[in-house]
Amino acid sequence: MRLQGKSALITGSARGIGKAFALAYAREGATVAIADINLDAAKTTAEEIGPNAYAVKLDVTDQASIEASIKAVEDKTGGLDILINNAALFDLAPIVEITRESYDRLFQINVAGTLFMLQAAAKSMIARGEGGKIINMASQAGRRGEALVGVYCATKAAIISLTQSAGLDLIKHGINVNAIAPGVVDGEHWEGVDALFAKHENRPRGEKKRLVGEQVPYGRMGTAEDLTGMAIFLASSEADYILAQTYNVDGGNWMS
Ligand SMILES: NC(=O)c1ccc[n+]([C@@H]2O[C@H](COP(=O)([O-])OP(=O)(O)OC[C@H]3O[C@@H](n4cnc5c(N)ncnc54)[C@H](O)[C@@H]3O)[C@@H](O)[C@H]2O)c1
Repeated sequence: MRLQGKSALITGSARGIGKAFALAYAREGATVAIADINLDAAKTTAEEIGPNAYAVKLDVTDQASIEASIKAVEDKTGGLDILINNAALFDLAPIVEITRESYDRLFQINVAGTLFMLQAAAKSMIARGEGGKIINMASQAGRRGEALVGVYCATKAAIISLTQSAGLDLIKHGINVNAIAPGVVDGEHWEGVDALFAKHENRPRGEKKRLVGEQVPYGRMGTAEDLTGMAIFLASSEADYILAQTYNVDGGNWMS
């Protein structure tokens, strides 16, 4: 029960990694806002988790929606202790085919969404005066560029940089900002990624997923549950002296 009595908001937690974080946090005693653009899915996830979870409608590209989600948490639990910036979109295209529409969408959700959620959460935490923990979802894609993945990689590199700046700026308020960089994590998200690689690399469906799994030094793709230990640790008081860091949880894919 390392998060007993804590109030958390996890963006994009109706499914995938965010949902696994919500389940793990609830098990550790936290009350969790399942904040997602897909409210129906968020409600289903909250019901699955039980009384420690509730659904909140959130579009991280909409400032009014961001502020309303923080207010909903304050009204429900008295104040926000933990934010995980998890919502993100993926896309794939050769450099010469990247569209402004794809660029704008990915930067709006992945980067602006993370920055302005972080800002709204920090304002709430500062006003309350009890500090807090903010965790941003980066990626191995933020550690180095990848052919075909230019825009997504750039958004995740931006998350690593924002984590450093926000970590340095907010620690004076007792707010720790850190990030997790997963490698390849099996789930619905990767079904979409695999389909995009199949199209752009002219492969049969499922082949890219099999190959990336085989290349992980640990010997397989990650699961969302492989990431929960780090997410609990970074939200707990055991991580009070840690800030501005990005931790690889990727089966050994990247070393830094
Ligand atoms: N799956 C992987 O292999 C992998 C690897 C590295 C990093 N990551 C990162 O981990 C995080 C979670 O990934 P996932 O695989 O669970 O993704 P996912 O696609 O399964 O889930 C994303 C969630 O975000 C929600 N969402 C989308 N747009 C939103 C918006 N505008 N506002 C609020 N919610 C929105 C979706 O409804 C969905 O529930 C992301 O930041 C992703 O970049 C994933």
